[in-house]
Amino acid sequence: MEQGLRRFEGKTAVITGGATGVGFSTAHRLASEGARVVIGGRRADTGSEAVERLRASGLEAAFVRADVADANQVRDLMDQAVRLYDRIDILINNAAIFTPGRFMDTSWEDWRRVFDVIVSGAYLCTKEAARRMIKEGVQGRIVNVSSINSTRALEESSHYNAAKGALDQLTRNTALELIDRGIRINSVALGFIDTPMSVVDGVKEHETDWFRDIYVARKKIPQQRSGQPEEAAGVIAFLASEDASYMCGAVVAVDGGLSITF
Ligand SMILES: NC(=O)c1ccc[n+]([C@@H]2O[C@H](COP(=O)([O-])OP(=O)(O)OC[C@H]3O[C@@H](n4cnc5c(N)ncnc54)[C@H](O)[C@@H]3O)[C@@H](O)[C@H]2O)c1
Repeated sequence: MEQGLRRFEGKTAVITGGATGVGFSTAHRLASEGARVVIGGRRADTGSEAVERLRASGLEAAFVRADVADANQVRDLMDQAVRLYDRIDILINNAAIFTPGRFMDTSWEDWRRVFDVIVSGAYLCTKEAARRMIKEGVQGRIVNVSSINSTRALEESSHYNAAKGALDQLTRNTALELIDRGIRINSVALGFIDTPMSVVDGVKEHETDWFRDIYVARKKIPQQRSGQPEEAAGVIAFLASEDASYMCGAVVAVDGGLSITF
């Protein structure tokens, strides 16, 4: 991390799914640059643990239990953020779930749950946060965490990929409609990042033979490695900052070059 940047001094950031992985690194990065962060997540244990780790580093953070797919809980998350820290300047729509499954084996419940969390979650959080940003006259910044899967087909991920495709469209359409309310909305499309999500059935996918063969040895990822959550967080923080002042509705790949090969 570049030392000494304080781009978020006095700002409040809400990060969904911010207790683990990319969300936690983003919370850490924003707070290290002066933000007061509110982590919204389903699990009180991991949420409290994350807040303790941030506070132990002298950072300002709070946890609010919230399922992003539940309209009442999202409203409460944003209300509590305002109650704690007066306003919401930044929203990171990061929460997501991924459970692999072939299309024909994907149940209606699985399909709906993935869409509920990824698409409806971003819809609800964006609307509730933007409403408060507009009310307070805040120049809001929203970053959606998408995937390069949003524009590609991959076995066993039809629900997740379709949902991330919908999220990219939500990024573009909300960016267009909310820019004249002073709210800038952009997105990152992540490739393989080392987080709890990359552990499937107890196996770290980046440590498997097929990953080493296809993505590393055969250079399908030009940088020949998976990414670290801090490397995703750096770009998310950039998009949430005034360094990205002329960006609106962009979907920026953070994937070691994976999306440029075939
Ligand atoms: N790790 C990767 O390789 C990768 C690749 C592409 C995109 N992404 C995206 O990055 C983002 C972060 O994922 P990660 O890799 O850090 O994995 P992760 O599993 O650590 O993070 C997801 C977080 O979302 C939370 N969450 C899930 N459902 C929720 C709900 N209904 N309400 C609130 N919180 C909920 C989880 O508890 C978890 O903390 C996700 O949007 C994911 O799709 C990750």
